[in-house]
Amino acid sequence: MSDQLTNENIMAALGRVKDPEIGRDLVSLGMIKSIEIAGGTVDLTVELTTPACPLKAKIESDIVDGLVLLGATTVRVDWASNVKRTFGGPTADLIPGVRNTIAVASGKGGVGKTTVAVNLAVSLARDGARVGLLDADITGPNVPLMMGTTSSHVTGTGGRVNPVSAHGVSMMSIQYFLTGDSPVIWRGPLIHSAIQQFLRDVEWGDLDYLVVDLPPGTGDAALSISQLIPLSGAVIVTTPQEVSLMDARRAIAMFNKVNVRTLGVVENMSGFICPDCGTEHDIFGTGGAGSLAREFELDVLARIPLEPAVRTGGDAGTPITSPQHPASDSSVAAAALREFARSVAGRLSVLAAPMAAAGPRPN
Ligand SMILES: Nc1ncnc2c1ncn2[C@@H]1O[C@H](COP(=O)(O)OP(=O)(O)OP(=O)(O)O)[C@@H](O)[C@H]1O
Ligand SMILES: [Mg+2]
Repeated sequence: MSDQLTNENIMAALGRVKDPEIGRDLVSLGMIKSIEIAGGTVDLTVELTTPACPLKAKIESDIVDGLVLLGATTVRVDWASNVKRTFGGPTADLIPGVRNTIAVASGKGGVGKTTVAVNLAVSLARDGARVGLLDADITGPNVPLMMGTTSSHVTGTGGRVNPVSAHGVSMMSIQYFLTGDSPVIWRGPLIHSAIQQFLRDVEWGDLDYLVVDLPPGTGDAALSISQLIPLSGAVIVTTPQEVSLMDARRAIAMFNKVNVRTLGVVENMSGFICPDCGTEHDIFGTGGAGSLAREFELDVLARIPLEPAVRTGGDAGTPITSPQHPASDSSVAAAALREFARSVAGRLSVLAAPMAAAGPRPN
């Protein structure tokens, strides 16, 4: 065993490894939960700020490099996670076990909000997070169809209802209380009280992320829901063409007005990859979201191509990012959606970082 391989030296080496996203070292962030040294083998437990950490591989290789320099022959990293809360406000107490809430919004309808929301939730769950999905589109609830839960019966006791579960995600939608295709023609106050009940009366339990699928537009429904639900941030979905970008601008402005941070922009239906020849065609164009993002000093968090499997997966209730979808590991759109989910998680970790206290030091 190298005599350099002591607890103190290891902590000093780890103190030089930075969480690349937060920009601070693992020790001062309290991320090192245990160290065990046996001969040349070091076992570490590192607590991440999200199980969907986009830079896990980089952190691991920096740890290994640092400890090999001290003479370690084997370094084993056991990952844990502790997702911190990133929202507050008067309605935050309605969902006491929820750590982050992410609204998926757009100006224009039909641009892929529900598709993005569903795949964001499934991807985060697939990376090990505890995830909920709230269908806040009361008059056009599509989450149950896309998650394959249209015939689910809601259970509950004492005025509390349990979420419906599929693809590793806990969900609630007005659709679960409707029969068949009966329309919901509610006006503002009823929509308001339905959303309030979805927050207050659903047994969400402990969730790292609650994804909220918003109705389209910047009208009454979207606006009042954005004010009612305590939000960590919003993701704006747009397609590349100008009509969609114009409405996306309005959505960003709406969130600015109600003091909800926009986490970034998603360009959906960004080019079409022909399933026969693999060539990319610009149906709606590509890159429009880039200029929108620059205008508002935001980032484009993902470019998701038009892919028939995304649509068929949605229609069949098996989202493209679900391991149950046969193309989930080969689809370009699925890869883009999974990377998008990690970058959302990463952004929320950065938001939580100033509040992060240094954790206990290992013995
Ligand atoms: N990247 C994509 N590739 C192929 N089809 C897609 C893609 N994104 C979305 N779709 C399809 O486009 C249609 C509209 O998507 P979706 O319902 O998610 O939009 P929306 O913005 O939620 O609509 P609304 O405004 O009505 O709520 C769906 O049939 C969906 O499967
Ligand atoms: Mg929708």
